[in-house]
Amino acid sequence: MIIKTKDLSVSLGGRYVLKKINLEIDKGVYLLIGRNGSGKTTLLKTLAGLIREYEGSIEVMGREIREMKRREISSLIGYVWQNPYYGFIEPSVREEIMLIIKILRKKYYDEKILRTLVSEEIFSRDPLTLSGGEAKRVSLASVLIADQLIWLLDEPFDFLDLWGIKDLLKIIFMKRYEKTIIVSSVNTYLINLLNPDKVILLSDGEIKFFGEPESLDEDLLETNGVPPRRVICR
Ligand SMILES: Nc1ncnc2c1ncn2[C@@H]1O[C@H](COP(=O)(O)OP(=O)(O)OP(=O)(O)O)[C@@H](O)[C@H]1O
Ligand SMILES: [Mg+2]
Repeated sequence: MIIKTKDLSVSLGGRYVLKKINLEIDKGVYLLIGRNGSGKTTLLKTLAGLIREYEGSIEVMGREIREMKRREISSLIGYVWQNPYYGFIEPSVREEIMLIIKILRKKYYDEKILRTLVSEEIFSRDPLTLSGGEAKRVSLASVLIADQLIWLLDEPFDFLDLWGIKDLLKIIFMKRYEKTIIVSSVNTYLINLLNPDKVILLSDGEIKFFGEPESLDEDLLETNGVPPRRVICR
């Protein structure tokens, strides 16, 4: 098992935002779905070791995450922010993308991922001046080039045009057998696009479904506030 949580609960601002989450996550693609405010970002941040105050346990490769050092976590887990601009700290796109390689002191980075996501023309730009889609591409590249075992991608398809969606799907499909990839989204159409091995449905901080997409009932999505796929076809 790559990630295992046991009765994981997180309280923010005086209320439980995650409630007794039990997950066993292996290699493959997992789609974390839930309406706005259901707790997706909080769950991904906690699994990424960014929220250290939690109840229960999170084991990554058999080790409790709160006992791991920041650099150890970063070499195992790549976390991509929902809002790309949050992660930007460097003055240029080139430095922003290469920061992770510097921090992890890696000799190798995935050039194919970099070329797929970012055009060299924007390398000298200030990341904060990028358009939403450009920023999303840079933010994805600045994590994924380190080729970690686990990728936690918070709404990674947001802001991207169809070329961007295709490029990101290509990368995910290329790596789906060698990694654990958790993708969060509010959109059910991703069930068809991503063809995930498993879907996790989150509602008000609780898991309402964890299993193969074929056994996910559309009514269950709707009763948990997620617009099911048929809504878009009405
Ligand atoms: N630091 C915080 N303090 C208080 N409440 C918080 C904090 N961070 C998040 N919350 C609340 O926790 C709940 C879950 O938030 P979270 O960002 O995890 O949801 P989400 O499923 O990612 O939503 P979205 O689809 O809008 O991105 C929300 O009600 C949010 O307002
Ligand atoms: Mg979110």
